[in-house]
Amino acid sequence: MIDKLPLANLPTPLEAADRLTRSWEGPRIWVKRDDLTGFGLSGNKVRKLEYHAAAARAAGATTLITAGAAQSNHCRATALAAAQLGMSCHLFLRTPDGRPLAEPTGNNLLHHLSGASLHYIKPDQYAQRDRLMEELAGELQPAATAWVIPEGASDYLGMLGFAEAGRELADQIEGWRKPPAVWHASSSGGTTAGLVMAAAQTRHSFVVMGTSVGDTVEELNERLAAIWAETSRHRSLPKNVLPPILTDAYIGGGYGVVSDAELSCQLEATRLTGLLFDPVYTGKAIYALREEIRRGGLDDFDDVVFWHTGGGFGVFAHDFSAVIGRSAEER
Ligand SMILES: Cc1ncc(COP(=O)(O)O)c(C=O)c1O
Repeated sequence: MIDKLPLANLPTPLEAADRLTRSWEGPRIWVKRDDLTGFGLSGNKVRKLEYHAAAARAAGATTLITAGAAQSNHCRATALAAAQLGMSCHLFLRTPDGRPLAEPTGNNLLHHLSGASLHYIKPDQYAQRDRLMEELAGELQPAATAWVIPEGASDYLGMLGFAEAGRELADQIEGWRKPPAVWHASSSGGTTAGLVMAAAQTRHSFVVMGTSVGDTVEELNERLAAIWAETSRHRSLPKNVLPPILTDAYIGGGYGVVSDAELSCQLEATRLTGLLFDPVYTGKAIYALREEIRRGGLDDFDDVVFWHTGGGFGVFAHDFSAVIGRSAEER
């Protein structure tokens, strides 16, 4: 039994989104509210960090090190978790020119507020992030022992957090006539891997469907393969693991690039649910869900669970003026 440190408010609610269902005319849409795992500590990353934080403590670490984009939810959650646990934190943050953002907004503002040490790096340096993080951990010795968390906390420990999440959902849908689709934004892969593990452990009480937010399905599969390889060094994999159904049909302009059509759909979804969708992850995923329903890709399902993976601070780092203006004109 691997320990975890409780950081998230669990279980998160599973709510019916009836107005969205009526408007989009597909399967019944439910929302798994991981945007409610906390406020600063909101979203899917917190579930993974519960396992990393426990492992860090067990290793005697007093510092957490991780990496992500300048608006990374994962870095924000890690930095705030470190603050809560009384640990130091170093973040390697990717910007186009390796310089701090001119205006800290959204998650980046919270990176600053958390008290973490921020190291801005260019994309080519970011490609070497694992080495940079290990080097820093070495430099901090012997004064501090650091625990390095990979991008998105998507490794064996992070996967455990989401396997637990999937089992939590399985309890909530017990007795449903047919397995629902579980629709979610997939990026560094830990969320998808954990859900796949949970689906196998709960005799496929749901079907895992991931929509990429920027990478190809091949790239997502490579990440999943790395997580499974690490997992199999710790334990045997269930025999009945089924690969997730992944799509890269809705990556649009790529990671962090958002079209007006995507933004309009996010606005529509907010106005039909009262929930916030960030342009980079959940916004892309909700757009993908609407398009997939229109295409008939979910016709086999009576129910679809949209896993709300959080990321709400992202709305404060994005310019919505084009779509807000247009929808005002339309009214
Ligand atoms: C809000 C949000 N949703 C979804 C994801 C994707 O999760 P994963 O990286 O585990 O694939 C992320 C990852 O950064 C995220 O921040």
